[in-house]
Amino acid sequence: MTARRGKLIVFEGLDRSGKSTQCDRLVAHLRNRGQRVEHLRFPDRTTPIGKMINSYLSGGSQQEDHVIHLLFSANRWELASAISTLINDGITVVVDRYYYSGCVYSAAKGVVGMDLEWCRQPEVGLPRPDVCLFLDLSAEEAAKRGGFGLERYEKKEMQDRVRELFAELREHKDEADDIVVVDAGCSVGEVEEIIHGLVDEACSLADRSGLPLRSV
Ligand code: TMP
Ligand code: MG
Repeated sequence: MTARRGKLIVFEGLDRSGKSTQCDRLVAHLRNRGQRVEHLRFPDRTTPIGKMINSYLSGGSQQEDHVIHLLFSANRWELASAISTLINDGITVVVDRYYYSGCVYSAAKGVVGMDLEWCRQPEVGLPRPDVCLFLDLSAEEAAKRGGFGLERYEKKEMQDRVRELFAELREHKDEADDIVVVDAGCSVGEVEEIIHGLVDEACSLADRSGLPLRSV
């Protein structure tokens, strides 16, 4: 029997939708089951590019809109081959935000010419998730959870537009099969249960198909 490859599982959603909590819980759950799991998040603020992104998000520096978009993308490409290697070695990778955020947050700024399709182009070729769990919560509900933080983009109008664009991206011909919407308005435990079911389903589908890791 050939060893199974790891899976690529992505969490997406608005700021304060519960992604980080659910990521932590899923990683712990899979490890308890004896699986080897790596936990990543984007932006990865530890690399030189990630430090530029961090400075931009926290208001410490300015960047031209196309430039920051490409830096976010480059921050994923920095790790793309490492992700593929982990997966081919049988290690599952759970990621807090991925290129979906890259597309919708940049497109939400309304810069002429930077629509979803333009924003998606630099991401083409990245490792493609086995499943993207979109934790769905309105900007009002998200803001009630202790309010948005102080980072750039954590403002109600921006978050409303981001949510609309996430919905548009889910209709994209190359995305529809990968993104699953999870109602993030339930309790943490209920959301976790739903996620376990969806992840099991996606992982068995990948195992049955026997397909290698695909590309965006
Ligand atoms: P975080 O709150 O998950 O650390 O993400 C920081 C912010 O960066 C968040 O508002 C979403 C935004 N973002 C982008 O604009 N483009 C991207 O590619 C990613 C990964 C995040
Ligand atoms: Mg945030």
